[in-house]
Amino acid sequence: MRAYLNGQFLPLSEARISPLDRGFLYADGAYEVIPVYSRFPFRIDEHLRRFQDSLEGIRLANPHTNAEWRAIILRLIAETEFDDQQVYIQVTRGADSKRDQCFPTGVAPTIFLFSASLTGPSAAQRESGVAVITAPDIRWSRCDLKTVSLLPNVLTRQLSADVGVSETIMLRDGLLTEGSATNVFAVKNGVIITPPKDHRILPGITYDVVLELAAKHQAAHEIRPVTEQELRSADELWLTSSTKEVLAIATLDGQPVGSGARAGKPGPVTRQMAAWFRAYKEDVMRHGDV
Ligand code: PDD
Repeated sequence: MRAYLNGQFLPLSEARISPLDRGFLYADGAYEVIPVYSRFPFRIDEHLRRFQDSLEGIRLANPHTNAEWRAIILRLIAETEFDDQQVYIQVTRGADSKRDQCFPTGVAPTIFLFSASLTGPSAAQRESGVAVITAPDIRWSRCDLKTVSLLPNVLTRQLSADVGVSETIMLRDGLLTEGSATNVFAVKNGVIITPPKDHRILPGITYDVVLELAAKHQAAHEIRPVTEQELRSADELWLTSSTKEVLAIATLDGQPVGSGARAGKPGPVTRQMAAWFRAYKEDVMRHGDV
């Protein structure tokens, strides 16, 4: 697998970072994951804009212009063997010669990228939906920043792995926030409902695509806080992320989502949204959106 580290393209197995890197010592850095379809990066400008916001949020100067980022990303994609990829980008506050919490002066940031094969959910998961559980949201108050301080997400995701399900959805103060690495949408009486992009959730790029598709196709939708009770009584639920796209939730804490004959099966609004997303993505695969 190919990587990029501080100005050099190289095999991932040859990339080396100092143990004094502040990413390693303090999780002092930000990241992005950009999906690539048929070698076209998906929504690259939006990912780079969110990256800029994350870097500003942790007071780390962006080391590259968007044109420079684009050149690095496109070359990495070209050098990677897969047509469908996930480009990982990380910038940390670099490696100082000592361990000190204060920002170092005169230390170059560490810039690291690699690209892997894009492996989404299986065909069976896409067709039948996935099981998820809920847990309290134990993260900090700036969940809108995509930082590498992911230990709370890791611990939360592991709760679902421990019981053999696909994701953990988090609740804070009686409200739905998001999944450990996904945004969450509910449907009640045909209306799509999702929490607003505030400090409590990551402003998902896929979340934006889904809301754009809802608006374009005039599907009723509301962006507002979603209570735990609304989550548990939703007719349909789905997850979104760059790697999962639009993925139906079949069961929540062991209970089938929805009621009647369709309980526990992906509902009509979810299926429709997944189809709109697929059509949009196929367009990008033919022409790119760069
Ligand atoms: N995760 N919420 C969280 C906490 C996330 O980590 C992610 C993405 C999302 C969805 O955002 P997007 O649609 O832009 O991928 C929501 C990425 C894929 C990851 O960490 O691997």
